[in-house]
Amino acid sequence: MTSFKERTTLNETLSLTKKSPAKGSFSYRTTRAISRIFNAAQMGFAEAYINGLEIPDSVMRSAMKASMPLFFRYFPGLLAPYEWVLTESDRTAEGSKDLMKLQYDLPQTMLNQMLGNWELIYPKYSTGFWERGAKDLEESQMHMIDQIIERLDIKDGDNILDFGCGWGCVPNYILSKFPNVRFTGLNLSHRQCEFMRDKMSDPNSHLSSGRFALYEGDLNEAKFDESFDKVLTVGVFCHVGNLTRAFQKLASIIKDDGKVFIHIITVRTPNNMSSGFTHKYIFPHGRYWNYDAVPECDHDLKTVQRWYMNGMNYHKTLTAWLERFDASQAQVKDLDYGMDYAKFRRMWRLYLLLLGTIFSTCDGEYNGNGQFLLTKA
Ligand SMILES: C[S@@+](CC[C@H](N)C(=O)[O-])C[C@H]1O[C@@H](n2cnc3c(N)ncnc32)[C@H](O)[C@@H]1O
Repeated sequence: MTSFKERTTLNETLSLTKKSPAKGSFSYRTTRAISRIFNAAQMGFAEAYINGLEIPDSVMRSAMKASMPLFFRYFPGLLAPYEWVLTESDRTAEGSKDLMKLQYDLPQTMLNQMLGNWELIYPKYSTGFWERGAKDLEESQMHMIDQIIERLDIKDGDNILDFGCGWGCVPNYILSKFPNVRFTGLNLSHRQCEFMRDKMSDPNSHLSSGRFALYEGDLNEAKFDESFDKVLTVGVFCHVGNLTRAFQKLASIIKDDGKVFIHIITVRTPNNMSSGFTHKYIFPHGRYWNYDAVPECDHDLKTVQRWYMNGMNYHKTLTAWLERFDASQAQVKDLDYGMDYAKFRRMWRLYLLLLGTIFSTCDGEYNGNGQFLLTKA
């Protein structure tokens, strides 16, 4: 049996030579029609589950593990439930307000319990990196940020933008390592920004060092008065519907020798992927770009290096989040979710189980994270 690390390296060669059928062709129209039926069936199951259908986690995991390889290998077109998943949208990011309401501005106690909140590692809503032997979630997140530091070649004195900075975890960790780095964090989530503003006046936080600036706003409209040495963006581009526009913006805000590091969920299938269930209940307009999408749309930037990170990393992270989500029920069940907690809990358990299992399908070789290093074209 090959090791976790060897598998990732071996399968770096997995090629994407298969092309999606041309738009308008018979094959394309047939795939679209079947995908609509498939999506309706999936939604029917998801809504039955949310409304109380009892299915043990083990049965659900087994069913997904048995069926997902077939979709990845033979029917990837069915994993795109809507036509918009396949192409770029008009706006850089669509439906951002709905996304904040349904996801990022949910009760923060629930999210923070699920993601973890430690002295240096604040809630981080993206994969940990487990391949260097991390013993727990907190350490896996440190290893993840260490890898970003290496791959983006962060140097002391850099002026860095974190595009979609969450609760400020990545800036806080990097500021703790480099005494002269400066950071700007961009985020539309008001509640996550409140968390960071508290930290900016907490002497124990590196966000209070005077080297962190917060920009609360939508990436669609964001404008900056300065240019950056480095831009990093972690777990945000699943919310970006138009890569070309996003890269135009990033190219306009980095210095001539600046670098951009994009870390996103990716699929090594010919087409992008999404799910009707997550679009409606968890991440409106979310999509997982295929591994070739970034280099294909990087007209104003140039992809100089890319890496595929095996999906077992996200599988382990999502498993840890699900355990923490389950363990925190007593503390979070009375918060305001806009619906009954029992229903909310079933919805979120389905999300965490579904994604966690999909990342582990085919040993993590189809659905994982893509990392892309870009410079000015
Ligand atoms: C999955 S989280 C990742 C957060 C952080 N980078 C991390 O790794 O923990 C995505 C982040 O992007 C932010 N975001 C999503 N859409 C946005 C938009 N249109 N404008 C600004 N921020 C946005 C969310 O509020 C959230 O903080």
